[in-house]
Order: sequence, then structure tokens, then C-alpha cells
Amino acid sequence: MSASDLTAWGLRLAATHLGSMPARLNHSLSAARHVQIARKLAEASRRHLMVAALVHDIGYDPALRRTGMHAIDGAVHLRALGLPARIVSLVAFHTGAEYEADERGLAHELNAFDRPRQELLDRLILADLTSSPTGGEISVEERLAEIYDRYPAEHAVHRSVTRSHKYLRSAASRAQASSIHPR
Ligand SMILES: [Fe+2]
Repeated sequence: MSASDLTAWGLRLAATHLGSMPARLNHSLSAARHVQIARKLAEASRRHLMVAALVHDIGYDPALRRTGMHAIDGAVHLRALGLPARIVSLVAFHTGAEYEADERGLAHELNAFDRPRQELLDRLILADLTSSPTGGEISVEERLAEIYDRYPAEHAVHRSVTRSHKYLRSAASRAQASSIHPR
């Protein structure tokens, strides 16, 4: 599949599954823009990251609900559609999904996917955490605070972000640093 076909596929999937949730669609488009301007990435990696950013939240579509955890449900759908394995893995593991899967008793389902290269995952995490829930610009700290506010303390997302907070901040910092000081 050509690079432009893959991008078109990502856009179509985002519109199909998030069209009824315009704020989430805007958030995903914003994350894709953030990835697009990430420097010092091979073209194929950038393309895969951008498509992953476009579709990372499609698992919120009730039509795709299987486990109730959006990262897994989205990845299951993308794998069934035959998207490249690296995109599927990035979606499965995005933004501390391993912590949420553990909180929800879904580690086994998540580990059915390969973990992507941390360097790429870091960039997706940074893009997700610097795109507000409506697609605006936001800092990582503000975004984490916003998640704590949005989900009650007993919710699996709130609990998992409490546990993954340090990891998410480190991932975002690494991604920021590697854009400025490429390895
Ligand atoms: Fe997101």
C-alpha cells in the first residue's frame, strides 16, 4: 500500500469511528499534526506514527467495544483490517495502556500484541498528551491534571494514570529531547 493510501485509510477510519464524537476527532487530528512535525524520524516511521495518531482513539466507538478498554478494542479492529503491525502495536500500547490493562485485568489481551519500539511510543505519548480532549494545545502536566479531573478516583483510568504518571512524563520528556537532540 502506498504512503498516501495509508494516510487516507487512517483519516477515513478516524472519521468513521469518531465522526459522532467531534471533540475526540479533533483531538486525534491534533495528535497527528504533532507527530507530523516531529523531527529526525525516518519517513516510514513518521508515516506509521501519523496514522497511529489518527486512529489511536477509535476504540472509543461503541461499535468496536469488546473488552471495554479503548486501546485494545481499537488495536483488535485495526489488526482485523490488516493495518501494518507497527501501527496496531502503537495503538495497543499508547499512553500507558499496559497500566490500564493491568488495572482492568486485561494484561493477557494486551500482550497478544507486540510492544512497539519505545522511541516511537514516546512520540505518540507526547502527541497524545499535548493535544487537549478537544484538539487544542495543552502541556503534559495540564493534560494529566485534566485526566485526573475527568475520571473519578476509583475509575481504572484515574488509577492507572496515577501509577503511570512518572512513566508518561519520562516518555514525553524523551520524545521532546530526541526532537531537539537526535540520537
Ligand atoms: Fe488520545
